[in-house]
Amino acid sequence: MLNLFKKITQEPVDSFQDRLNKDDIPKHVAIIMDGNGRWAKQRGLPRTAGHKKGVGIIESIVEAAGQTGVEMLTVYAFSTENWNRPEDEISYIMSLPERFFASFMPKVMEANMQLRCIGDLSRLTPKVQTIIQDAMEQSADNTGMIFNIAVNYGGRLELVRATQKIAQEVAKGTLAVEEINEAIIGSHLYTPELPDVELLIRTSGEERVSNFLLWQIAYAEFYFTDTLWPDFTPDEFHRALYAYQNRDRRKGGLTQSK
Ligand code: FPP
Repeated sequence: MLNLFKKITQEPVDSFQDRLNKDDIPKHVAIIMDGNGRWAKQRGLPRTAGHKKGVGIIESIVEAAGQTGVEMLTVYAFSTENWNRPEDEISYIMSLPERFFASFMPKVMEANMQLRCIGDLSRLTPKVQTIIQDAMEQSADNTGMIFNIAVNYGGRLELVRATQKIAQEVAKGTLAVEEINEAIIGSHLYTPELPDVELLIRTSGEERVSNFLLWQIAYAEFYFTDTLWPDFTPDEFHRALYAYQNRDRRKGGLTQSK
């Protein structure tokens, strides 16, 4: 297993797309886009320059995901913990959606993609909330890949919110305690109709989950790479899918060869 993985990471990165098994593409891929700050620091630039470059990368990865047949892509753009950053960095990040959506939405519509945002959007500025709302409404009837952006998102907050909603239904008498099961909990999350994440990618060499999609990643394969997000490419995205396809995905059962 270790040797195979070593072999995969040493292959030239542009050779993986052709090797992908089209019948084994993960339906739902999630990405923790990390390393913008370090990318900027390495170049003697302010952290905001890393975010600017990082937001520009998103489009190429969305396109690569759509082309390979991924049905849902969820990216972590801003966590509930990111508010602890310096004010000027936060306000810069919050200024990004306006330009991003303006140039991205025509492509979303052309590709028949559905854009969604998950998280507590109420803490965002009214302007950003409107931009996001408009983008979701505009693309709501599209039938292609779902591109899901997590903004002011926290996995624990999502579970707290789901628990509160379930408790309210129990209190009202519309749900019995005995009826609460995994499906009921799943249906009260931000992602009620999305299947579990099958592949979670995190860039920048950090090997943490950082409160991302805690419920949905229960059986996900993790792919960690040292590449910083602003340097992440479609080729490396294909390599992550290839690594996924070469994993022994047992989900608690036995491998087919055993
Ligand atoms: C991680 O790098 C990046 C972030 C916390 C913010 C990323 C935000 C975007 C790419 C733009 C958001 C766009 C939309 C459309 C809402 P880091 O700053 O943690 O990097 P570091 O770990 O090297 O410091």
